[in-house]
Amino acid sequence: MLQNIPTGLSVLELIYLIASVLFILGLKKLSHPETARRGNILSAAGMIMAIICTILFHKKDGQPIGHIGLILLAISIGTFIGWTIAVKVKMTAMPQLVSFFNGMGGAAAALISLMEFPRMNPDLIARTGMMNGHAIAILLGLIIGSVSFAGSMIAFGKLAEKIGDPKLKFMRVVNLTFMAGILAFTVFILTQKNIHLENISWMAYVLLGLSLIYGVTFVIPIGGADMPVVISLLNSFTGVAAAMGGFLYDNQVMLTGGILVGSAGTILTILMCKAMNRSLLNVLVGAFGGGGAGLDKVAGNIKEISVSDAAVLLSYSQKVVIVPGYGLAVAQAQHLCHEMEKMLDEKGVNVRYAIHPVAGRMPGHMNVLLAEADVPYDRLSESDEINEDMPNVDVVVVIGANDVVNPAAVDDPSSPIYGMPVVRVWEAKNVIVMKRGMGKGYAAIENFLFYNDNTRMLFGNAKESLQKLISEIKSL
Ligand code: TAP
Repeated sequence: MLQNIPTGLSVLELIYLIASVLFILGLKKLSHPETARRGNILSAAGMIMAIICTILFHKKDGQPIGHIGLILLAISIGTFIGWTIAVKVKMTAMPQLVSFFNGMGGAAAALISLMEFPRMNPDLIARTGMMNGHAIAILLGLIIGSVSFAGSMIAFGKLAEKIGDPKLKFMRVVNLTFMAGILAFTVFILTQKNIHLENISWMAYVLLGLSLIYGVTFVIPIGGADMPVVISLLNSFTGVAAAMGGFLYDNQVMLTGGILVGSAGTILTILMCKAMNRSLLNVLVGAFGGGGAGLDKVAGNIKEISVSDAAVLLSYSQKVVIVPGYGLAVAQAQHLCHEMEKMLDEKGVNVRYAIHPVAGRMPGHMNVLLAEADVPYDRLSESDEINEDMPNVDVVVVIGANDVVNPAAVDDPSSPIYGMPVVRVWEAKNVIVMKRGMGKGYAAIENFLFYNDNTRMLFGNAKESLQKLISEIKSL
């Protein structure tokens, strides 16, 4: 059957080429907050174009695509569900939404393989047995798509706090066993010589079952906070599974789309691991956190600052840097943060934001959060850029950030975050840290910044503290 797909669909091929170029341009624009929205629209336009033109122009055995009504119905149902969920979802629930949608992509790729497995070309099987390109593409699509689907669903459950982090030491053995089982069964299928297509379906279902179980056992022992890295990895899996579909149907746009998702997911996974100074293996098998120097090494004391003193200090500064972190997102204080920044700006203070690549819990978390509050993009700087100017900064306001401003990353080789790039806030003249108490960050380690001579703590929920600070600045 697969042989029968005609080639030389020149109009369609040209459209696929244009769609692929739109994907690439869209992806490029996604790399900057200012152009990201346009990039998204550009890529979506490419995808819509590819879908419509496939329905209109694709021909199989000289016949146009049938069941158009059913196809349109399925597209409408999918669009309605996707649109409704995406419009309603809260900003803080975005990572689990991404995970859910990624899982759907994996499931679609696996279903394609499941459908095509028993419909393979009998002549091809008679000539080569199962060891041929089509069978390999189908099997890889089935395995990778199912692992991605099951893994993404578990990641979704963890991020939505419906599934905990069980401490299952034996899980590594279970994982390896399932992986070995999948490999062995795939080799078994590929080495079949005289196989009848009627007998082939059960193999696909066994492989599907093994891969789904492996997807679950692969993700379940990984800590909930590491899920963004896992999702990015699973995202790359989905891309590869979709690319297998592209091979299968000789469909260039599916192939390029899949490869782009696969490579973008892999690059993002590597970048996140680098920014956290951890290897992918450490994320996948190692528990993170704890360790480093204990409180007995602390030289100074915790010093608090009153709201009115903080307001005066900020209002009479020349250069202020705000470092947002996960706590700002939890408190949903981004709008108040922007309001404070505008007020200081009106008083002639130069205010900038230092954005650490892994501040928060997902890639670009702080950029999205601040964009939602209409903070101008030119106020956001990467932490590396701001670090150079840090000694000239009068006040750094750390709002709900902890690990990304921890000096242990620079001076404590025993710390799990040693070597991780951080915002060197301690080099500024004054540091105000806004957090609720002495709670630790994601890495669960002490932060000696809080005990430094030039650091003062403004305890409280970020939203309430900012509200008080704003009214105090107003009254000055
Ligand atoms: P964290 O180190 O997690 O620190 C957040 C701090 O916010 C906590 O210490 C907490 O202290 C405070 N906080 C929580 N709720 C608050 C509220 N309502 N008001 C005020 N403060 C509040 O955050 P970070 O500095 O942004 O660092 C991110 C961490 O996540 C890094 O370790 C990073 O490696 C990890 N991570 C990031 C990603 C991505 S891609 N962004 C992915 C996986 C892991 P209190 O309890 O005392 O208030």
